[in-house]
Amino acid sequence: MAPILDVLAIPGSLRERSFNAALARALVELAPEGTDIEVVDIRPIPLYDGDLDTDERRPEAVSSLKRRIAAAGAVIFVSPEYNHGVPGVLKNTIDWVSRPAFRSPMAMKPCGMMGAAPGLSGTMRGQQILKVVLLGMASQIFPHPGVAVSRAKEKFDEALRLTDEGTRSFIAGYLEEFAAWARRVRPPPTEDHAAGS
Ligand code: FNR
Repeated sequence: MAPILDVLAIPGSLRERSFNAALARALVELAPEGTDIEVVDIRPIPLYDGDLDTDERRPEAVSSLKRRIAAAGAVIFVSPEYNHGVPGVLKNTIDWVSRPAFRSPMAMKPCGMMGAAPGLSGTMRGQQILKVVLLGMASQIFPHPGVAVSRAKEKFDEALRLTDEGTRSFIAGYLEEFAAWARRVRPPPTEDHAAGS
């Protein structure tokens, strides 16, 4: 049997009743066999400060996330778009884990993305910007038309459980394809990445 693929789902919203955090939790349930998905809490990540981005001073929350990304087989970002772009809290997290440039735990990391929004447009514009950001740190991006959960209020119940059957099965299919792709393209871990420096 193939080894388990560990995937981190990183939400781009801190809101208690965030649709995107709820979507990330739904991924855990919908993970295909042989794939473990874990949701990351980015609340402990402080604002990026280059003076603290040294081995001596780096905040433990950042080092810990870098180690988790290094150990993971893939990452899925689950984010709203803010003003057609990437929310600051997510961009801030990405900036921390993107160093050292091109040798960070994000370098060559297989990445997917999706998002939920109450409106019609979903999150596709923000996802296009996120792709540019990820390419800037040499991550690999899953070539897929995209997953955007529009009209989110109709797709989640009061307890923020993803209840829309069509959306659930579409996402389950996405995760199958994503996991197969990530297994094909993921690079072996290097010492740099494993150290989470
Ligand atoms: C938004 N929202 C939003 N929606 C959208 O479809 N396109 C956009 O560009 C924006 N821009 C935007 C900016 C800011 C600052 C906020 C606070 C909100 C609405 C957004 O989709 C909605 O608040 C979602 O519910 C946010 O995601 P969570 O927190 O539910 O995960």
